[in-house]
Amino acid sequence: MPFRIATFLIASCACAAVAAGLFGPKLVWPGAWMGALAWLALDAWRAQRLLHVLRNDTAALPSRGSGVWGELSERIRKLLRTREQQTRQAEDRLQEFLAAIQASPNGVVLLDAQGRIEWCNQTAAAQFGIDVERDLLQHLANLVRDPIFITYLASWNYSRDVLIDAPAQGMPRRNHPTRLSVQVHPYAGNRRMLLTRDITSLEQAEAMRRDFVANVSHEIRTPLTVLAGFVETLQTLPLDAEERARYLALMAQQSTRMETLVNDLLTLSRLEGSAAPTASQWTRVRALLAHCEDEAKGLSSRLTPLGHRLSFTVDADSELSGAPVELQSAMSNLLSNAVRYTPGGGVVVVTWRVLQDGRGEYAVRDSGPGIAAEHIPRLTERFYRVDRSRSRETGGTGLGLAIVKHIAQRHGAELRIDSTVGQGSRFALVFPASRVREARLLAKA
Ligand SMILES: Nc1ncnc2c1ncn2[C@@H]1O[C@H](COP(=O)(O)OP(=O)(O)O)[C@@H](O)[C@H]1O
Ligand SMILES: [Mg+2]
Repeated sequence: MPFRIATFLIASCACAAVAAGLFGPKLVWPGAWMGALAWLALDAWRAQRLLHVLRNDTAALPSRGSGVWGELSERIRKLLRTREQQTRQAEDRLQEFLAAIQASPNGVVLLDAQGRIEWCNQTAAAQFGIDVERDLLQHLANLVRDPIFITYLASWNYSRDVLIDAPAQGMPRRNHPTRLSVQVHPYAGNRRMLLTRDITSLEQAEAMRRDFVANVSHEIRTPLTVLAGFVETLQTLPLDAEERARYLALMAQQSTRMETLVNDLLTLSRLEGSAAPTASQWTRVRALLAHCEDEAKGLSSRLTPLGHRLSFTVDADSELSGAPVELQSAMSNLLSNAVRYTPGGGVVVVTWRVLQDGRGEYAVRDSGPGIAAEHIPRLTERFYRVDRSRSRETGGTGLGLAIVKHIAQRHGAELRIDSTVGQGSRFALVFPASRVREARLLAKA
């Protein structure tokens, strides 16, 4: 302010002095007036210029300038710059938040007070079939027509979620529609946030668990019923020694069946609950095969008087790394299946070879009945059997291949099944090269 008054006074005095000097002392006052007017005009022009710039293009604000207008313009410029920075930061934060919500595996939809879509993330867009560009400000109830969902959305009672089939088949899984859990959370008055969660796998796992429990109960109840029947017969009927012995043998068979089932169940649960096998323990393939051979011969002679023509070939003397008990169990399982499902007199060929790329293949080929193509993908499911009665007769539990698959996965191996009805089957385990090595001399000792 003092600067302004000073410039004003200087302008008036200077003009007064010039007028007095040029035209005599009479014109001192008019000169002073003229100076004051000129100062005011210049001041008004600068104010007008600043206003003009502010109205049109704030970026053109002069950064420097003398006097109060210069300073005013500088201050405004600084203020605007700070505001701009703050806005940019807020915008960046918002974009980060949106990116985080986009990355969420759960769907998020924001609805305005009228129930129209204000924003949604990609997951929700895929699940509900929302086209982010086209469907903004559409009523969600027009896109998701499930009556359960529409009633829920209109109820304004969101204490629990609802389960619906996803309207969009963006990510269909083998004949299963995507199942969604949807819950609404009101916020900011009557706006709503909708959260969705894909629970397809959860529901499938739950269904599998129920099936599994039902299957186990059924598998155990069958031999139990038979046993109970025999016990009752023994208690009530006067039997001679020969008959008693026959009944007891049948009872022993049933109890063995239950024991095998329980053992297989325990093996499965152990496989599921334990850490992956180490890669540092090596077992010689010959030793594993020798054990398989003993078991297979015993099983074959027990099952049929004709026996089987069994052959074992080890192409390369190798060692396998992993849990020996598991490897043994997987190999024995495949071989015992071949023996059990191939009628007496049939051929079973077991081979071990190292493939060109270093992977090791254990294969069991049989001349049995073969398996129709539609069954093959399901063979490793628990309790899945093609020939139920043959499986039961020969002491099968329906869990063998499920166990083999588990062990294969734990060792990074692949289970390959090739089969032609009427010609026989070939089951092979292909182990990764990292788990196969040439047998060391020490191992021979
Ligand atoms: N070598 C094979 N030849 C024919 N069918 C087989 C063979 N191996 C397995 N299967 C079929 O696969 C089903 C599942 O096998 P698995 O899981 O070992 O159960 P199981 O206890 O019945 O042997 C068997 O019930 C059988 O029908
Ligand atoms: Mg089996």
